[in-house]
Amino acid sequence: MRKIVVSASSLPAGRNMSSQLEYIERVGSYGADMYHLDVMDGKFTKQKSIDFSYLEQLKEHSSLLFDVHLMIMDADKVVSKYIKAGANIISLQYEAFADKSVLIKTLTKIKKSGIMAGLAIDIDTDIKVLDQFLKYIDMVIILCVKAGKGGQKFDENAIKKIKYARSISKELLIEADGGVNADTAKQCVKAGADILVSGYYIYTNDAYTAIQTLKGKSVAE
Ligand code: DX5
Ligand code: ZN
Repeated sequence: MRKIVVSASSLPAGRNMSSQLEYIERVGSYGADMYHLDVMDGKFTKQKSIDFSYLEQLKEHSSLLFDVHLMIMDADKVVSKYIKAGANIISLQYEAFADKSVLIKTLTKIKKSGIMAGLAIDIDTDIKVLDQFLKYIDMVIILCVKAGKGGQKFDENAIKKIKYARSISKELLIEADGGVNADTAKQCVKAGADILVSGYYIYTNDAYTAIQTLKGKSVAE
């Protein structure tokens, strides 16, 4: 049985530093493997969320891996701040780059810094765009909702996209992000996902039970 990695989204804990610190401590103690820092700039997305300055403080209080999802414009201009702040994975949003050569250059910069590079593909983008980026990335984030908001309904089209990503690479890490809950998690894993991001499902349920359920462990164990 493949090990399922759970990456708890920072989004539900909002922009207040103490609630972020309380939340990361809680999800870490209940078995989350990574903290999915959903960074939104209010330009690529309507919502604005936390940024690299939170990462520095969170890193001091948690041994979780930091899975940074940059849903921002001009990520190439600030990526070094996230590298310096201690990100373990940095994923860039495909649709935020008009010039794909800048996207490739920035992915290369992330990898050259010794951390993992990811490409996030929004729900309305054809998954075949992934082909040309395989050699630049360690992970793909398959968005299962429209980028920009937590608590949305899972879009079943994402399952086909996860299957496609798995069909073109055995070693690529595949992260399902958005609308992941007890039922949709099973479909994502069956389709080939390794990492499950969850914001709403963990935040609105008993965090321990939710995290163990996503890991495929019956809580009774
Ligand atoms: C959406 C973000 C997701 C989201 C988590 O743009 O990338 O990480 O906040 O989604 P839910 O809350 O549906 O688990
Ligand atoms: Zn995300």
